[in-house]
Amino acid sequence: MIERVKEFPTLTIIRHPLVQHKLTILRDQQTQTKHFKELVDEIAMLMAYEATSELTVEPRDVETPLEKTSGRQVAGKKLTLVPILRAGLGMVEGIAQLIPSARVGHIGIYREHDTLQPVDYYFKIPSGEADRAFFLLDPMLATGGSAVAAVSALARAGAPVQRIRFMCLVAAPEGVRAMLDAHPKVPVYAASLDRELNSKGYILPGLGDAGDRLFGTR
Ligand code: PRP
Ligand code: URA
Repeated sequence: MIERVKEFPTLTIIRHPLVQHKLTILRDQQTQTKHFKELVDEIAMLMAYEATSELTVEPRDVETPLEKTSGRQVAGKKLTLVPILRAGLGMVEGIAQLIPSARVGHIGIYREHDTLQPVDYYFKIPSGEADRAFFLLDPMLATGGSAVAAVSALARAGAPVQRIRFMCLVAAPEGVRAMLDAHPKVPVYAASLDRELNSKGYILPGLGDAGDRLFGTR
């Protein structure tokens, strides 16, 4: 259940009914912090199933209780989830339920209030970058400044750009375009491509400030 948009060849929209159902509740301004956090985790987990569908696998022999057979396993070092702080943190646990062996890196970036320019303040990822697949996580892709900066930071640290994927819940056309222009090899997975940004850089219709709704700050 995916949709492609001709204008944005790197974008995959995940149209699974459960993802869309949960996203609609997430958008509702009446949805409170506890439920909001549960929904972000659940949507991230469902999206991860699709976003991992093209991972490379390699053969692996296995002994069943009856005989030896050959199976398959995901190739390379352990997958790495990299939430962009703060709101990306909300997506980690859901995906980790699906991929318990995943390692977790962190990138701290916030948007400067007036200019909307990304400001980075933290970076830590597991070693062995060159052999890992990275899933960069952030619920919101608005101007794209934070996501573009995060991919650039991962690439500077030695992550192969062709092994980075970006997962968000809500994307604005402006953000998908910015990612496509800056990092044309990075696939973007979203649960929705929304209409536009408002004059303050918020996604319309969107879901408001993801970090504030997740952590109950305002
Ligand atoms: C939000 C969101 C993204 C960023 C998206 O974070 O979680 O990281 O904005 O906007 P952009 O595409 O225009 O860069 P925010 O800056 O509010 O930081 P916070 O999560 O620490 O509150
Ligand atoms: N960041 C958010 O949390 N929400 C938006 O709509 C845009 C950026």
